[in-house]
Amino acid sequence: MRRLNRARITGTGSYLPERRLTNDDISKMVDTTDEWIRTRTGVCERRLAAEDELTSDLATHAARNAMEAAGVTAQQVDLVLVATTTPDMIFPSTASIVQKKLGANLSQGPAFDLQAVCSGFIYALSVADQFIATGAAKCALVIGAETFTRILDWTDRNTCVLFGDGAGAVVLQPEPEGSERGILSTHLHADGDYVDLLKVPTGVSNNLKGGVNAAQAGEPPPPRQILGYTEMRGNEVFKKAVMGLGQLVDETLAANGLEKSDLDWLVPHQANMRIIKSTAKRLKMGLENVVVTVDRHGNTSAASVPLALDEAVRDGRIQPGHLVLMEAFGGGFTWGSALVRW
Ligand code: COA
Repeated sequence: MRRLNRARITGTGSYLPERRLTNDDISKMVDTTDEWIRTRTGVCERRLAAEDELTSDLATHAARNAMEAAGVTAQQVDLVLVATTTPDMIFPSTASIVQKKLGANLSQGPAFDLQAVCSGFIYALSVADQFIATGAAKCALVIGAETFTRILDWTDRNTCVLFGDGAGAVVLQPEPEGSERGILSTHLHADGDYVDLLKVPTGVSNNLKGGVNAAQAGEPPPPRQILGYTEMRGNEVFKKAVMGLGQLVDETLAANGLEKSDLDWLVPHQANMRIIKSTAKRLKMGLENVVVTVDRHGNTSAASVPLALDEAVRDGRIQPGHLVLMEAFGGGFTWGSALVRW
């Protein structure tokens, strides 16, 4: 790709729903304890979207925050990308809905969703980076937003303790020529051999009871509501995540001719504290240089990296000139990283 511009994150934003669900709350629903959840995952509490709050609402709040931080108006936004596993509807895309809610539809730039589960934000950042690099977009809004608790089986202790709701967003704009700041590289991977280890198996085209055949057989239409829940083989996911992320951080640094010691911050996907610690160890980084939110947010899937990023930018930990490594791993499997000179 011929790169005309380097893309820089000029603003970050996030949004968390108000309602908190603690481990003790969950231990009243399934056979688990606060002690088990804390020691195995690092999660203490997570947020739950209100009944009338949709993924697009969370996304819109986070996006407004990021636009305000970047000092851009909705009319300037010429690309809206929403990474989500929990769209408002099958179609139109959540990005189209967010574009309308923001008033960014006035620019008539493209808006679309991207599905890479927990790696979705890194995937979307990489796509937006390439729009900016080629000059196809001048002001991109990249959002990770989830109402993940709606695809959890609240009787399954293997999964319901892990996840939460939330949204994070960034604005990407071209950096003036010669600047050292911005996205240095992104690295994306997927291996479809592992689709069955982490999934919500209900969908659209595998909804075989629907369609013309049922109608021709004179059968009643299937229920309108399609409900599916997350199924996971946690232990196997854990092992693949640790291995994949370890290799990924090495690949990212090597591609830029940088050393582990050059990094200022690791902003990891917040799935499990033990996975985060293992990546930090591989990078020889102390936890004081790792942005951790898993204790308060749980795993918010595509929202987890931008939520953590926004927290560390707003509280002043991440400063101009710092070298920041973001990474994520998720269903598919998918995994990816982005290296940024802040
Ligand atoms: N409370 C109490 N016990 C629980 C439990 C819970 N919430 N969830 C599972 N257990 C039990 C299991 O039933 C099992 O019991 P058994 O030995 O009697 O069969 C035991 O704990 C061990 O289960 P296991 O799955 O081997 O535990 P683990 O140490 O691997 O921890 C996870 C489970 C889910 C925390 C861990 O595998 C994990 O984090 N995996 C990665 C998940 C992830 O990150 N997914 C998203 C990727 S983006």
